[in-house]
Amino acid sequence: MGICFLLLNVGLCWAQYNPNTLPGRTSVVHLFEWRWADIALECERYLAPNGFGGVQISPPNENVIITDRWQPWWERYQPISYKLCTRSGNETEFRDMVTRCNDVGVHIYVDAVINHMCGANAGAGNHATCGSYFSAKTENFPAVPYSGFDFNDGKCKSQSGDIEDYHDITQVRDCRLTGLLDLALEKDYVRSKVAEYMNHLIDIGVAGFRIDAAKHMWPQDVKAILDKLKDLNTKWFSAGTKPFIYQEVIDLGGEPITGSDYFENGRVTEFKYGAKLGTVIRKWDGEKMAYLVNWGEGWGFVPSDRALVFVDNHDNQRGHGAGGASILTFWDSRLYKMAVGFMLAHPYGFTRVMSSFRWPRNFVNGEDVNDWVGPPSESDGSTKAVTINEDTTCGNDWVCEHRWRQIRNMVVFRNVVDGEPFSNWWDNDSNQVAFGRGSKGFIVFNNDDWDMNVDLQTGLPAGTYCDVISGDKEDNRCTGSQVYVSEDGLANFQISSQAEDPFMAIHVNAKL
Ligand SMILES: *[C@@H]1O[C@H](CO)[C@@H](O)[C@H](O)[C@H]1NC(C)=O
Ligand SMILES: *[C@@H]1O[C@H](CO)[C@@H](O)[C@H](O)[C@H]1NC(C)=O
Repeated sequence: MGICFLLLNVGLCWAQYNPNTLPGRTSVVHLFEWRWADIALECERYLAPNGFGGVQISPPNENVIITDRWQPWWERYQPISYKLCTRSGNETEFRDMVTRCNDVGVHIYVDAVINHMCGANAGAGNHATCGSYFSAKTENFPAVPYSGFDFNDGKCKSQSGDIEDYHDITQVRDCRLTGLLDLALEKDYVRSKVAEYMNHLIDIGVAGFRIDAAKHMWPQDVKAILDKLKDLNTKWFSAGTKPFIYQEVIDLGGEPITGSDYFENGRVTEFKYGAKLGTVIRKWDGEKMAYLVNWGEGWGFVPSDRALVFVDNHDNQRGHGAGGASILTFWDSRLYKMAVGFMLAHPYGFTRVMSSFRWPRNFVNGEDVNDWVGPPSESDGSTKAVTINEDTTCGNDWVCEHRWRQIRNMVVFRNVVDGEPFSNWWDNDSNQVAFGRGSKGFIVFNNDDWDMNVDLQTGLPAGTYCDVISGDKEDNRCTGSQVYVSEDGLANFQISSQAEDPFMAIHVNAKL
């Protein structure tokens, strides 16, 4: 790392921690499984006007089509080639989305699946989203092309060829993740093919990458690929801008591979964040919100400027990946809004908001037997359009958490308080807490079972503010509760423990 810092000035050091969002836009939203055509519309009609910085999209490259369970969402994590056609759309539609989103200042972040190809049992044929031929059995992917030489079979030392022991670093990185054919990323040929794919996306205008399954690749192999990447397209980004990199490293502690192993390449996904925040807001394990006073590094998380944070993601919202039962999702909407509100108010990490589809969740013996179900689909298998209702919510089973007033207004809050320090913490040694962001914003939570009525120092200029959780400021009126800050910065907050949203937030742009 020391050498890395020395070399930074001469441009030899690669790591890219800057999200490449426009100044003052501080969050991205994951529009899980959305079609490119719908994302383009959403950038223009909603994300740009509401200050979202970008969109994480589902993997855009060709994937296997699985039919024994009809097109599960996870088939998109089983590549067949690097051609840009999926259920979300083809290359023409992809280019149109990137251009239109960039043109309104909302950037696109690609979920890059580069650790592996499809599952070993995916068969042979043209059952892939662009119709490319492949044979999983012979590890033949002519549309790339990759052949048997380009996979790690010789290197993997586990009995089954799969990862069996997460305490064995070489197994985790050289063997198959749940049967997925593991690419030999130490080969320059394989690295070049992956880099070619990512550079194609950079040329089109994307701003960065989520590196899927990074934990299952050697950090130096990821680095070798990143070293081959171009700077971002100067049509939208200043010359010399590197793509934003955030790596999926599931590290809940207790395993030899840690998030910090990957810092030289970029940020990492901090999975402890959502697991712990869910535990606190649910009040499990004796946790209480008062303990959040040192949230962030104080809880054993990676440094703030290395963290990509989220309350839930597409995996752990349905019991996959990591985090367990504590993860809060739209299914627990009351607690979820508080958790997302806390995340967006708190300065730690770069924040990603989840936007989901509803699925027929069905627990049998504690397990959701429908955790595989893919996005809302028409009878011909194509993904349903995201329709917008008159009240601005979404139809066709798209949940659109990012359009919930409480969440959307907290995305704006985070933009308004950007750069302001964590300040004026207050708690009642239980689950009533409050904190500010310098003199720009203040948020108060009552997650106790009794009502709250307190006078708190907000740090804000005197005046009348609109609570952006219960309403919106419209034409200098507030459609929700008002908060009066006196000359000394104090304000009275009354929050019923029975309220649907037992929290309030004010900021200087919502002053009446
Ligand atoms: C891409 O998809 C659109 C919409 O379905 C279609 O009109 C167009 O012909 C397709 N383009 C290519 C190159 O396949
Ligand atoms: C905060 O919680 C304590 C219990 O820890 C309770 O006695 C007190 O009334 C609460 N404070 C407020 C302001 O409600």
